[in-house]
Amino acid sequence: MKPRFALKIRDHLHDPVKKRSFNEAHFSEAASRYDIATVAMSLGRDRAWKNRLIAALPDGGAPRCVDLACGTGDIVFALAERYPQGEILGLDIAEPMLERARRRQRTDNICFERRDMCATGLEEQSVDILTGSYAIRNAPDIEPALQEISRVMKPGGVVALLDFSKSIRPSRQKLDALLLKYWCGLWGLLLHGNPEIHAYIAASLKTFPDRVELRRMLTEQGLQLTSSCSFYFGMLELLVLRKEA
Ligand SMILES: C[S@@+](CC[C@H](N)C(=O)[O-])C[C@H]1O[C@@H](n2cnc3c(N)ncnc32)[C@H](O)[C@@H]1O
Repeated sequence: MKPRFALKIRDHLHDPVKKRSFNEAHFSEAASRYDIATVAMSLGRDRAWKNRLIAALPDGGAPRCVDLACGTGDIVFALAERYPQGEILGLDIAEPMLERARRRQRTDNICFERRDMCATGLEEQSVDILTGSYAIRNAPDIEPALQEISRVMKPGGVVALLDFSKSIRPSRQKLDALLLKYWCGLWGLLLHGNPEIHAYIAASLKTFPDRVELRRMLTEQGLQLTSSCSFYFGMLELLVLRKEA
């Protein structure tokens, strides 16, 4: 019988090696019901937010696109539709997520590979468009993940990141953490019999930079913010950036 997921979030978030292995195990366990969970936890809004990310990207051409932490492939397939002449690569660490993504694949300009977002193995300055939805918050360590994004981007390339966003106000941080812990934990319990599965979202924000600090870290990597907007009662943000020429 398949062993139940038994890792505890609190034992894994403060060490990049442990966070990486926690995430691989946790998202492998979550994969079978991940698509239902995102619809439920987002109150049906997840698809609309992802559409906003795609709409924020530049028009036309045949760009080389990379979707970090692609999961079951929503953004990859939307990129393939937006850029039929483009080359689209989806990267993720959890094989069960990638298996689901590959089963959905209908066009041959898409490729899914198992790689860590902190060490993609991609060539320097080789990517025109990089996306990540609910991606960088899961990086084993945020700074190396941002360095990797900056390294692989072509000058002038566009980066679009959609993720939970941490308020700069401690009182709001506490409120968001409580809401996310119980709301998402409830879906972990209903779908997997284990609140640790989706309560991870709230826990991951503890070690994630707040929105001012995140902007500073992105700027430090030569990624200039061109637009931003927030969703989900201000708990989620879409950041669109351009790699300095
Ligand atoms: C919340 S899911 C997001 C999936 C997809 N981007 C979406 O928006 O539906 C987070 C994804 O990050 C992946 N992940 C976690 N750590 C990773 C890492 N170090 N490198 C690449 N992917 C990682 C997980 O396997 C999981 O598929």
